[in-house]
Amino acid sequence: MKFFIDSADLNEIKEAEAMGVLDGVTTNPSLCAKVGVRDFEGHVAKICEMVAGDVSAEVVSTTYAEMLEEGRRIAAIADNVVVKIPLIKDGIKAIKTFTEEGIRTNCTLCFSPTQALIAAKAGATYISPFLGRLDDISHDGLALIEDIVTIYTNYSFQTEVLAASIRHPMHVVECARLGADVATMPLSVLEGLLKHPLTDSGLDKFLSDWDKLQASLK
Ligand code: E4P
Repeated sequence: MKFFIDSADLNEIKEAEAMGVLDGVTTNPSLCAKVGVRDFEGHVAKICEMVAGDVSAEVVSTTYAEMLEEGRRIAAIADNVVVKIPLIKDGIKAIKTFTEEGIRTNCTLCFSPTQALIAAKAGATYISPFLGRLDDISHDGLALIEDIVTIYTNYSFQTEVLAASIRHPMHVVECARLGADVATMPLSVLEGLLKHPLTDSGLDKFLSDWDKLQASLK
């Protein structure tokens, strides 16, 4: 399973990258707004230099023609950029065109298996089902991941399932169990994956026993 960080914050991305287990980055307009990005293309270029893996950068246009123009500009930023497109009719058309042009895409804002099926048929590189936002409204986000993985496996679609809107480490565990290809998560969740109180207390005990041993040898 690949781990992406869901952030436009350069410090967070640097910290995640330093862990040595980061496979890519996803951003969206809200995440860019959160850190006050002024020069969008320059900011994406910086992220693309910081990580070797795929970096998703989202269009803000909503018509086919505008998405093509904006997406081509984004695609030209770096080799590891992936154009993020919303799951609307014009977005699907744009994904189909980008696929034919060899431009990689991340189809975002997916909330149903039918949407995921259409995105795969258009040739999206990634599909981003937002599981946390479904859980937020009392739907079953993980059931959506399971449905998409099953459908893509049934028909050998190459589109990778990028579990998004992840809220906590157990979402990552369940997505891994279900066979999602990628999990994108905030830095807090990425760091949460390695935490266990028994590891901390066990290490404290090992170190204090070692110190006692050293003191007794003096
Ligand atoms: C995915 O690419 C999105 O940026 C993201 O996961 C949305 O998550 P949120 O529901 O926490 O905003």
